[in-house]
Amino acid sequence: TKKAVLGPLVGAVDQGTSSTRFLVFNSKTAELLSHHQVEIKQEFPREGWVEQDPKEILNSVYECVEKTCEKLGQLNIDISNIKAIGVSNQRETTVVWDKLTGEPLYNAVVWLDLRTQSTVEILSKRIPGNNNFVKSKTGLPLSTYFSAVKLRWILDNVKKVQKAVKENRALFGTIDSWLIWSLTGGVNGGVHCTDVTNASRTMLFNIHSLEWDKELCEFFGIPMQILPNVRSSSEIYGLMEINNIVLVFLIVILHFQCLGDQSAALVGQMCFQDGQAKNTYGTGCFLLCNTGRKCVFSEHGLLTTVAYKLGRDKPVFYALEGSVAIAGAVTRWLRDNLGIIKTSEEIEKLAKEVGTSYGCYFVPAFSGLYAPYWDPSARGIICGLTQFTNKCHIAFAALEAVCFQTREILDAMNRDCGIPLSHLQVDGGMTSNKILMQLQADILYIPVVKPSMPETTALGAAMAAGAAEGVGVWSLEPEDLSAVTMERFEPQINAEESEIRYSTWKKAVMKSMGWVT
Ligand code: G3P
Repeated sequence: TKKAVLGPLVGAVDQGTSSTRFLVFNSKTAELLSHHQVEIKQEFPREGWVEQDPKEILNSVYECVEKTCEKLGQLNIDISNIKAIGVSNQRETTVVWDKLTGEPLYNAVVWLDLRTQSTVEILSKRIPGNNNFVKSKTGLPLSTYFSAVKLRWILDNVKKVQKAVKENRALFGTIDSWLIWSLTGGVNGGVHCTDVTNASRTMLFNIHSLEWDKELCEFFGIPMQILPNVRSSSEIYGLMEINNIVLVFLIVILHFQCLGDQSAALVGQMCFQDGQAKNTYGTGCFLLCNTGRKCVFSEHGLLTTVAYKLGRDKPVFYALEGSVAIAGAVTRWLRDNLGIIKTSEEIEKLAKEVGTSYGCYFVPAFSGLYAPYWDPSARGIICGLTQFTNKCHIAFAALEAVCFQTREILDAMNRDCGIPLSHLQVDGGMTSNKILMQLQADILYIPVVKPSMPETTALGAAMAAGAAEGVGVWSLEPEDLSAVTMERFEPQINAEESEIRYSTWKKAVMKSMGWVT
């Protein structure tokens, strides 16, 4: 059969907390040509612990690449048109592996994991000089969220890791590093690297000098030889071979680049100007506002983070970030733990049946509360229940919780930036839920604008990969996104009603805080 003629294609691995995807885009229009998705297991070995199997994550990437290539074959698209692959990933999640065997030495400790709460308390008391030691260098509060304390825990508790470090066999990485090392050859010369955006989430990286910080490594007791090399987010890191079974042993050589998933979404939404912001609804929910070349420090509980550096000789851009730990994860909890829905999509149907939470409020502080509270001792609550309350109201309250949490970080962002956002650009899996989008516009009381293609994170990773020097198939100009159209949701309730609901939410939040003593 004749192959379809297309411009250069770019692939993206989007490795999120809940699932892995591989997607292939046309670099001339940003049209999504084919993709495949695999859900990833999460293990909860103890209360507050969250782990994943690094091997399962790696195999899910292989499966997604293989299935997507099969689908491209069925569309008569030649996979040799794929010129590069970008990786976007769940950030902070910590893996240590053996460079001689290629085997992980412990499960991945996921960003949501709370086991390091006591480590954080002990370290907070030992902060040298002023309390700003960690924040001034990294832009981050000392918290269980970031990799340094997870790595500290692994080094303290896993004998195999202690031995491998002594024998100079241990490598540390966030998910991007683990995947890139494995996919570029693993034990046969895999590239051990990360990019500035992922490095900036470890609490070991100096966001001013863009280097691993010796003092921070000493403070957290991390041996520097196990850290990956830090690169820009758009350059060729290494090569991967796809041995595609459908096209019978056709081998395609691909280049890799990576970006933390929230930075990738910022690029995918073309938020390149100072003051432009996006909110991504994944497992968690992350609002990032580009602050340009300036490192802005928040007075209202937001993080300062590296937004991107799109090329070795390109300048670094920074962002203010409001991080919410539980967004899409609340839907998964209703499905897996309560069983009130069978598929994630069903939440919209339940919420639609009632159109209100009937005074029920759900604070899903399963991993404590992140921005703007940073309270690891908070725990989830559902309150305002009566005998009238049913599963539909709880489903509605769960969606509302995602919107209220976004309102909290948007308020903080507006206060820090001084100029309130006039609308919110959104993306991510949950944005296909129309009830959620309308609720979000009502609760923020500004329009919410979403792209027709919600996979903006993957698109951003593909754009950064396609734009890299030596690849050069994506120009990062708006005309390269001609296939993406926008949908807008306007607030439909009155401002007073919106405020009353928001202040009741805040009352519920106060009840969830300080729960674990
Ligand atoms: O910081 C954690 C974040 O990167 C996870 O993203 O898409 O899995 O919610 P996601």
